[in-house]
Amino acid sequence: MNESSHLDELLASRASSTRRTIDPSTVVIFGASGDLTARKLIPALYHLAVERALPTPYRIIGFARREKTPDSFRSELLEALRKYSRTRTVDESVWNDFAKNIDYCQADISEAAGYGRLKQMIQSASDEKLRNNLLFYLATNPSQFGEIAEHLSQVGLLTKCENGGCLQRLVVEKPFGHDLPSAQQLNAELIRHAHENQIFRIDHYLGKETVQNILTFRFSNGIFENLWTRDSVDHVQITVAEKLGVGSRGGYYEESGAMRDMIQNHVLQVLSLVAMEPPVSLEAEAVRDEKVKLLKSVRPMTPADIARNVVRGQYFAGEIDGETRPAYRSEPKVNPKSNVETFVALKLWIDNWRWSGVPFYVRTGKNLPVSASEVRVQFKPAPNILYGAKSGVRLDPNSLTLRLQPDEGIALRFNGKVPGAATKLQPVRMQFSYDTEFGAYTPEAYERLLLEAIAADATLFIRRDEVETAWAIVDSIRSAWTDKPLTNREFYLAGTWGPTASDDLLGTDGREWKHPTV
Ligand code: BG6
Repeated sequence: MNESSHLDELLASRASSTRRTIDPSTVVIFGASGDLTARKLIPALYHLAVERALPTPYRIIGFARREKTPDSFRSELLEALRKYSRTRTVDESVWNDFAKNIDYCQADISEAAGYGRLKQMIQSASDEKLRNNLLFYLATNPSQFGEIAEHLSQVGLLTKCENGGCLQRLVVEKPFGHDLPSAQQLNAELIRHAHENQIFRIDHYLGKETVQNILTFRFSNGIFENLWTRDSVDHVQITVAEKLGVGSRGGYYEESGAMRDMIQNHVLQVLSLVAMEPPVSLEAEAVRDEKVKLLKSVRPMTPADIARNVVRGQYFAGEIDGETRPAYRSEPKVNPKSNVETFVALKLWIDNWRWSGVPFYVRTGKNLPVSASEVRVQFKPAPNILYGAKSGVRLDPNSLTLRLQPDEGIALRFNGKVPGAATKLQPVRMQFSYDTEFGAYTPEAYERLLLEAIAADATLFIRRDEVETAWAIVDSIRSAWTDKPLTNREFYLAGTWGPTASDDLLGTDGREWKHPTV
């Protein structure tokens, strides 16, 4: 066997070892009357059924306080599906089959007897695997996670399993805590009743195709990874921009702000995938080890660093696409004197061998001009001794943009010669677009995540040390803001790219943000 075919075999075996056969499972959704169930979970499960990706047999049990029969629960879900499914139309025969697998357990989360009823329901299944292979999806307020786990454990539906092969699993939604101590507390509560291998912490960004493709792009191609170091990269920009304001979520947002809502999870996840070292395999622990290592290399900031390298902002009234947007302070359920940030820009340093001296600029915000997320890796410029040097023109540096959403794709920017007798250069783009290449198939992040959790593969979920390390980064920054009211300079007009201090963050380094366009 020659060396390359040996390598091919090795790669194939590593890739396939990440996909297990999916055993029949019962999925129990706590918070089954809630928004997440209607908007995301049921549409995702339905689409998995359409694609015949669910195991045979499977069962879905909704657990919630509201009085309703299994039939009325099913009708509500059908209604929701018609509204929120990514395809909108519902295939009647798939739905009829799907609906047969759905049941409803009416109980209050703090009512012990309700868990007894749930147990009876689960054990009424004739298939042994349906009775034992259990996925508990906690789509509830995080303050109830510990209580649910405790009740499940008391009735014997959840057993802490130490040595792998765990049949019962908990899926927990974000926010996982609101700071490091609360996340540690939550972890301690869950770990009493479930092993870390049984806990699946969701970050829906990890379910996005394009976010998963970051690793594929980096580690399945020979040419880019060689450039992915301080020798070639000038800096990296990560933008997660949203055109919407906080809307009806003011109550939640007042407690979170952009730092907790987006940076602690989605943005740091993207950063860790962009910057981590190659894992030894694609197995969950190998990938997560590298992500944690990366997050631990983010340089802690002193108060002086925070003053220099962190920009926060809050939107005031403005206009986007001709539509007026109220100021954050005028949004429903928001304190009219709120100092909560709706925009953050940070300059982060990663103190490891690969990235020493390369700044990572990240930003996120609400009511920005477009909804778009992208990672831009900007390379060091070519020596400017030939083209443009005499006329004082600065050569455009090469850049590679990983477009996460929308218009998912990858673009490489380089200089080309404008046809003609004069030597005139112009930056041009080489572009890969998901839609053009693979058709407009964009599964919802929750489809992939639910399937992975049912298959008990934790690669796309956040490990305990990962969530805690991310909180440590965010807490250190937030602590500098405590009680500091926003200054005038920290407000931005809805529909703009944040406060001017965000431009200055790069401007003082002789760089500038490249704003995503749609
Ligand atoms: C959620 C945040 O986690 O992510 C929201 O709570 C945000 O505030 C959303 O709008 C963004 O997700 P997406 O998939 O629309 O980029």
